Amino acid sequence: QATPASLLTVFGATGDLARRMLLPSLYSLQAERLLPDGMRILGTARSELDREGFAKLVADSIHERIPAAERNDDALRGLIERLDYCPASADDAASMQALAGRVEALRNGDVLYHMSTAPKFYGPACQALAANGVAGPGTRVMLEKPIGKDLASAIAINDSVAMAFDEERIYRTDHYLGKEGVQNLIALRFGNSLFEPLWSARHIEQVQITVGETVGVEGRGDYYDESGALRDMLQNHLLQLLCLVAMEPPARFDPTAVRNEKIKVLRSLRPIDRGNVATESVIGQYTAGASEGKVVPGYAEELGRASRTETFVALRAHVDNWRWSGVPFYLRTGKRLPSRSTEIYIQFRKVPYSIFGGPAATDMQPNGLLIKLQPEERIELDLMSKTPGLDRHGLRLSQVALDLDFHEEFLNARKRIAYERLYLDAIEGNGTLFVRRDETEAAWQWVDAIADGWRATGMVPKPYPAGTWGPSASVSLIDRSGHSWRE
Ligand code: BG6
Repeated sequence: QATPASLLTVFGATGDLARRMLLPSLYSLQAERLLPDGMRILGTARSELDREGFAKLVADSIHERIPAAERNDDALRGLIERLDYCPASADDAASMQALAGRVEALRNGDVLYHMSTAPKFYGPACQALAANGVAGPGTRVMLEKPIGKDLASAIAINDSVAMAFDEERIYRTDHYLGKEGVQNLIALRFGNSLFEPLWSARHIEQVQITVGETVGVEGRGDYYDESGALRDMLQNHLLQLLCLVAMEPPARFDPTAVRNEKIKVLRSLRPIDRGNVATESVIGQYTAGASEGKVVPGYAEELGRASRTETFVALRAHVDNWRWSGVPFYLRTGKRLPSRSTEIYIQFRKVPYSIFGGPAATDMQPNGLLIKLQPEERIELDLMSKTPGLDRHGLRLSQVALDLDFHEEFLNARKRIAYERLYLDAIEGNGTLFVRRDETEAAWQWVDAIADGWRATGMVPKPYPAGTWGPSASVSLIDRSGHSWRE
C-alpha cells in the first residue's frame, strides 16, 4: 500500500522539462501546502552541482516561470529547504551507488523517482537503483514520454524497467491527463446524468478531436524528425483523449477501474494499415507561411534538410464495439496550424424529421457539444432556437450556443501546469491519471500499423503553408463521409 512519498528524486533535474515545468510545479504545490511534511527533494543529473548550485537553479526557474505577483518568498524558502542534489549518471556505477546512499540517508518512508531523462536511461537507471537496494517495496517510479518510438522499443523499455519495479509502482506520464480541462471531461461525462443516455452511436453522428499547435519544432528538430506528429502527439495525447471520450463508465475513479476501461477502447480501435491507410489518413508537412502575424520558415528549412516526417496528421478512426459502431472519430494534430487549440467536438444526430418545413428546414443544424480544453476551458452546447422576429413562411430557426466558460465561472482559478496534478498524485501514490503498460503498448501497436502503411504504400506528407489547417486532403478525408471539421 503506497503512502505519501518522503523523498522525491528527480533524474534530469537540471534539464529543460525540469526548469520549465517540474520545478515550478513543485513550487506551486509547496505554496499550496500540498507537499507532505518533511518530504525531501533530491535532484540528480550529470552536472557537477552542489546543493547551493541546485537551489539557485531552482530559484531561477521559478522566477522565470511564476509571475512576480503570484510568487511568495516563504514558499520559495520552504521549497529550497527541502532540496538536495547529487550528481549521477545511469551508466556510471559508482555515481549510482553514491546516489543510492543519498537516497537511503534522506528517505523516511516511501520514495518516488522521476525519470525526466532520455528514455534510453530509464532501464539502466532503474536497474542500478535495484542493484543498490533502493528500488524495493515502498518505492515507485514516474516515467516521461516517449516510451519508445514503436511497439518493439516500448516493450524493451517497459521490460527493462519491470526488472526493477512492479507495474503498480510504475507511473507513466501523459501530461495531457494532468490538464484541468481533461479532468473536466471526466467530470462532465461521469458527474452528470444528462449526457450518458445520449453517449453512443444511437445519438452521436461523429466525434472530432483536434490538437492544434502554432509552434514549429522549437529547436527539437532532431528528436521531432525521428518522431513526427503520429508518434509525438497522436500515439499518446490524442489517443488518451479518445479513450476518455469513448470508454464505458468505470465503476470507480481509481487506477484499476479507469485503466481497465481505457484499454478496452484501445483494443477496439479498427486497424488502419496498408490496406486502408490511403483513404483513412492524411499527412502533411508545413512549408513557409505566416503564423501569428509573423513570417515563418518551412519545416525543412527549420530542420536544415529535406525530410519526409509528417508535421500534421489526420485520421478517420473507428471504435468497433456496440456503443460506437459506425461513428467516425476524426483525429487531427499538427504544428504551425492557425491557432493553439485542443478541443473535442461531439456532433449529435440530426432531428429525424423537421416539423417546420419551408426555409427553416434547410437551416436545421445538428446539436453539438464542444469541449474546449486549451487555451481556454469552455463547454459549448449548440442548440437550435427560434430566430427572433417574424417571417411570412412561419418559424425561422438558427443555431445558438449555451456557453460555459470555466475562467468566468471559477474566477479565482489560476492556470495550472499539468505537472502540479501529476506530481501530487504520484507523491500520494495514486496512479489513476497515469498510463498503464498495456495501454502504451496497445497504442503503439495501432500506431505502428499506420506508420507501416505509409511506408509500404509510399505515402509522403503533402505540403501545407504554415498558418493553415493542414493539407486540403484533410478536408476531403472527412467530407467523404459527409462531415466537415468544426472551425
Ligand atoms: C509534447 C510534444 O508531448 O506535447 C510536443 O512532444 C508538444 O511536441 C507538446 O508541443 C504539447 O503540449 P501542450 O501542453 O503545449 O499542449
